[in-house]
Amino acid sequence: MTSKQIRQEFLDFFKSKEHQIVQSAPVIPHGDKALMFTNAGMNQFADVFLGAGSRDYKRAADTQKCVRVSGKHNDLEEVGVDTYHHTFFEMLGNWSLGDYYKKEAIAWAWELLTDVWKLDKDRLFITVFETDDEACELWAKHVPLDQIIRCGAKDNFWEMGPVGPCGPCSEIHYDGTSNKSGKSLVNEDHPDVIEIWNLVFIQSNRKADGSLEDLRAKHIDTGMGLERIVRVLQNKSSNYDTDIFMPLINKIAELSEKTYGENEADDIAMRVISDHVRMVAFSIADGALPSGDGRGYVIRRVLRRGLRFARNLGLKDPVIYKLVGVLKNQFSDIFPEIEKQYGIVCKIIKGEEESFLKTLEIGLERLDVIISKALANSDTNKIISGTDAFLLYDSFGFPLDLTALIGRERGFSVDETKFNELMKEQKDRSRAASKVTHSEASESKFDFVTEFTGYDELETESEILFA
Ligand code: SER
Repeated sequence: MTSKQIRQEFLDFFKSKEHQIVQSAPVIPHGDKALMFTNAGMNQFADVFLGAGSRDYKRAADTQKCVRVSGKHNDLEEVGVDTYHHTFFEMLGNWSLGDYYKKEAIAWAWELLTDVWKLDKDRLFITVFETDDEACELWAKHVPLDQIIRCGAKDNFWEMGPVGPCGPCSEIHYDGTSNKSGKSLVNEDHPDVIEIWNLVFIQSNRKADGSLEDLRAKHIDTGMGLERIVRVLQNKSSNYDTDIFMPLINKIAELSEKTYGENEADDIAMRVISDHVRMVAFSIADGALPSGDGRGYVIRRVLRRGLRFARNLGLKDPVIYKLVGVLKNQFSDIFPEIEKQYGIVCKIIKGEEESFLKTLEIGLERLDVIISKALANSDTNKIISGTDAFLLYDSFGFPLDLTALIGRERGFSVDETKFNELMKEQKDRSRAASKVTHSEASESKFDFVTEFTGYDELETESEILFA
């Protein structure tokens, strides 16, 4: 079964259960100041859960573009090193907006996985929140008790962020070990035993003071990583071996004249790039721009990280923009914005690549000198000083996590406290410097922190910086 078919079967299944199939919200949550990127399918329904909005349907399903790079749900360090974390992924989800609750959510999840997709029932482990007897009893109608595991809040109480809708959850884990011995590996971050579906029983609101208040109605919010279920159904041991990532990896292999599967370091680089281009391209297609601040800087960091891995493959010219065509071929039917914005997405990525590649090489040399010097001096602390990290940031455009990543590969850590101090000083300085007169302003060059909104609107609110 192809990934396209799997996605469609999920949507068809929930359509047959009277769900409205809705479009993915943009991965950039325009208008939501609390959230940098859409990080879960439920984001677009948060207002309904909180009683502040309504829809003309009570059940919905979709595939949602999600980004998890910063904030509460942040998987960046794992990406590409392991085989199942991504900065950008699709979350298949079904929602009850004050309609059905645990019984149906559990029964339908089980029906889809075991009747429609015929997954081996012995390979499915269920986790439930430690005090959720109701969920436990409902699951016990389908699964032997020894496949149900009670866990604490860390794993089984889902929250969207520091504030917002939340509730106990129940996860379905797939045991991919050869001899079905994976029970003890549930929630252990093991590549063979992975969470595939999370059913959240939304019933509370986390408030800013940390307290929980009951919501007026109870809701269901489920999320299944498309890349993970495709991996299971395509019988692969890595998400990257599926038909979602292989077209990208094949293109990277072709461009770098390397073969995937021959060398671990090259494989990681190919996986990282194939992941990162999806995050960057879909974010730009949804109206964000790489920049020096906020979410724009997250996009820039991810792109620069990707470029460093491309360089490891011997690719020293702009290359990531060349992968966007693969995404256009794969996703135009389900996410038409990638086709609509294709030209501009390529142009923006290529421009970013060109500008960073001007300083990448020399910054890497500089970092190499810093590390080599410390090693020659038998520096046992193995710390890249905050001053050096700041210089790499300021003069060569190295995001802190890029310096940290390269340092880690050589056994070094970064003095982040000092780095952050220097960053703050610089921000204070530029804030003070921006209090200039009109004539000074008109002669200066400014690095405006902007967000391009032209894909969605022809008129936009703006701030007059100088008058
Ligand atoms: N909101 C839950 C999650 O992101 C389920 O959709 O895991």
